[in-house]
Order: sequence, then C-alpha cells, then structure tokens
Amino acid sequence: MAEATLRARTIAALSNPDLDQKTALARETATLWFNRKIALRSPADPKIPDRPGRPAKPALVPPTQVKNRGVGSLRSRIALLHALAHIELNAVDLALDIVARFTTQNVPRSFFDGWMQVADEESKHFLMVRNRLRELGGDYGDLDAHDGLWQAAHSTRDSLTARLAVVPLILEARGLDVTPSLQEKLKEAGDHESAAVLSVIYEDEKGHVAIGAKWFRFLCAREKLNPATTFQELVRSHFRGPLKPPFNDLARAAAGLTPSFYRALVSTSSA
Ligand SMILES: [Fe+2]
Ligand SMILES: [Fe+2]
Repeated sequence: MAEATLRARTIAALSNPDLDQKTALARETATLWFNRKIALRSPADPKIPDRPGRPAKPALVPPTQVKNRGVGSLRSRIALLHALAHIELNAVDLALDIVARFTTQNVPRSFFDGWMQVADEESKHFLMVRNRLRELGGDYGDLDAHDGLWQAAHSTRDSLTARLAVVPLILEARGLDVTPSLQEKLKEAGDHESAAVLSVIYEDEKGHVAIGAKWFRFLCAREKLNPATTFQELVRSHFRGPLKPPFNDLARAAAGLTPSFYRALVSTSSA
C-alpha cells in the first residue's frame, strides 16, 4: 500500500487483527506521514470499521471479571503486564481511530502529526509490554481482558471535542495518576525491568495528554467556548466511569490539564 493515504493506512492498521502487522503498519505510516510522503485522504479510501481488528485471544470479558492481584508474585505481575498490554493495544487503536475518523475535520495538518506520534508511541508501548510479558513466561492473549475500553471510542465517534475530552484528557491523564505508584511497587518487588518499561510509558504519556490538551483548547478557542466548562459538559454526557482522586496535579498541569478542568467533576460523576 505504498501510495495509500494517511486515512487509508490508518484504517488498514485499525482493521488488522494481526498485532505485529497492526503495529508495524502504524509505525511505518507515522514515518511516511512525518516525511510528507503520503496524502491525507482520498475519495477511494475504505470505510472505517466500527471495531478494531483483534486476534481471537484474549477473550474479552466485563471489567468486573478482570481481577487486580497486586504485584508481589510472578503470577500477579504477569496479570498486571497483561492488563497493561491490553490498555496499550486499545491506545494504539484509539490513536489510529482519531486520525482515520477525523481526517474530514477542518484542522491543521499538525493535528495529524500529533496523533501519528501518539499512534507510533502506543505501538512501541504495546511491543515493550508484550516483550516483558514474554520474558516473564507469559504472552498477550493468555488471560482474559477488559471489554469496556472501546466504549470511549464508540460514544465519542461523532464529536472530535468529545473524543479529545474523554480519551487523552480523562483516560490517558488517569495513566499519569496511577503509573508512579505502580512503578514504585514493581521496584519494591524487585522487578526493575518492568518498572523501566513503565517509566518510558510515563514520560511518553505526558506528551499524549499535552497533545490532547493543546488540540482541545485549540478547538474551544476557535468556537469561542470556555475550555474548562466545555470539558465538563462533554465528560458528563460522554463518559460513564467515575473520576477518582488522587490526581497527579503536577504532571497534569505540566501537560496543560489544570485542576479547573477536572476538579468540578469529582463529586458529580459516578458510575
Ligand atoms: Fe501508552
Ligand atoms: Fe497514550
């Protein structure tokens, strides 16, 4: 698919159930796009799928059936890395979906630079976590996984501002809150290799939240909307989960996500 457009290529990666091919295509497409070797879109592009292509395993089960077992034992660390690999895989598909779905929006080309950087880094994260899982004797697909993660994409498929509010500014910002303590627990358990993988992810995720906040603010400014109150309205109407403290206020603010955005949501948003 040498000459295919950015949209056609991201749709192909999104649809592909082979995870080596999906991530390779996402990364190759990011490089082609950064080097301005491909066009944004064409009328010949295929239709975007409702759900991403996924392998037969892992089985997807309701979130209540996915247990959290701490990090003390090897089995528990494999379960943690498996859950993390699943989150990173969803993040790959979410970044590809933002690019593929919103190529018809009136946004600068640099918007797609940002999201292709995210698609590339999420692919790298998935591969790093899966690799660590294999070193520990497991693999992605061995355990059941959470079936609710695509819900955020589905419920925001018609609105770019809603997508940015829910995906980078709620879900990825949550990663900034929980990752440092998880890293500490892994180090205490003596698993420095897994902690090192998490530290790469943590640094990159700050950038993903920043890209989300930048474009969310851009779209609000263009429509002359207050970004904090618009964020709250969009989250209330498009996100079902709770917003739980403690928040990593410093890392969030450094990414442009200030407490005025999310504090007001804490008491009112419940599952
Ligand atoms: Fe990630
Ligand atoms: Fe991310």
